[in-house]
Amino acid sequence: MTTNLEGRHFLKELDFTGDEWRSLLDLAAQLKVELHGQDQPRKRLDEANVAVIFEKASTRTRSAFEVAAHHQGAHVTYLDPAGSHIGHKESAKDSARVLGRMFDAIEYRGFSQGTVETLAAYAGVPVWNGLTDQWHPTQSLCDMLTMREHASKPDHEIAFAYVGDAHNNVANSLLIAGAMMGMDVRMVAPTTLQNPPEVVEAAKAIAARTGARLALTDDPGAGVDSVDFVYTDVWVSMGEPEATWQQRIDLLLPYQVNRQLLDKTGNHDVRFMHCLPALHDRGTEVGEQLFQRAGLEALEVTDEVFESQNSIVFDQAENRMHTIKAVMVATLGT
Ligand code: CP
Ligand code: NVA
Repeated sequence: MTTNLEGRHFLKELDFTGDEWRSLLDLAAQLKVELHGQDQPRKRLDEANVAVIFEKASTRTRSAFEVAAHHQGAHVTYLDPAGSHIGHKESAKDSARVLGRMFDAIEYRGFSQGTVETLAAYAGVPVWNGLTDQWHPTQSLCDMLTMREHASKPDHEIAFAYVGDAHNNVANSLLIAGAMMGMDVRMVAPTTLQNPPEVVEAAKAIAARTGARLALTDDPGAGVDSVDFVYTDVWVSMGEPEATWQQRIDLLLPYQVNRQLLDKTGNHDVRFMHCLPALHDRGTEVGEQLFQRAGLEALEVTDEVFESQNSIVFDQAENRMHTIKAVMVATLGT
């Protein structure tokens, strides 16, 4: 059965059925093969004009949108955090109506999910969520493709544990996406950093239909038992106050992904995943500052695990491009 997503927005996982979500994954895999194949791929976004708006920093998401657009023949206009009036002198509602007159689609990364929903309500063209405080759906789509590629088993047999700050955008997206795919999903975090209750309730309702197994636990050892993938993200997300660091370190140090934690999976071939950027050494400004302040060489993942054979973080990063391309082609392509 072909799934037609033409003209649709891509705002959060909850807006899609499992079949629609899987059709995006299948398309991403097809586009990936096509890119590396002998024949020149057909340009499905020929002459389309796409705006990419970033109110927060980005390396992967911006690059993925731009490169994917170029592969498919689209033109991209980048609006940076300071370079537009959106939210400063012009409301999202007004900006949406302006940009919708000029562009064929709009990507938005920013603070509030409400802003991307408003853009979608008023732009009249597809709007793609490149991350908000609540959801990061292009990330979870990428992660599901990466899991498919690295686990030679059906989607519903895949088990993953997300370990760390489960109250953030990536954790919310993974919980819902995992539920939609019928997976064995473990959210491993201190009680105060578990997914918000409404996200858990939504995931449970989906799991009742898909057969997904969902577990929320504050016990790292039990949480990662027998999983195929251990996933983590930064302990303090973009937009959260700097002062949060010490409290998060105190809460999350027992949840650091290190060799001992991977050993607790009991799975020698367990794969390590991270959406990136990762604080795994002192090679960044923030990493060095935190070393000076807290004496930690690494935060959410040790350098040993990050650089190990178990780590698939760069395969994952590449898949941002293939999956974002699938979203663009499915919603806008010809
Ligand atoms: N994973 C991710 O969204 O990376 P960027 O912040 O670099 O886009
Ligand atoms: N949770 C992180 C994800 C970065 C890709 C953040 O929002 O900063």
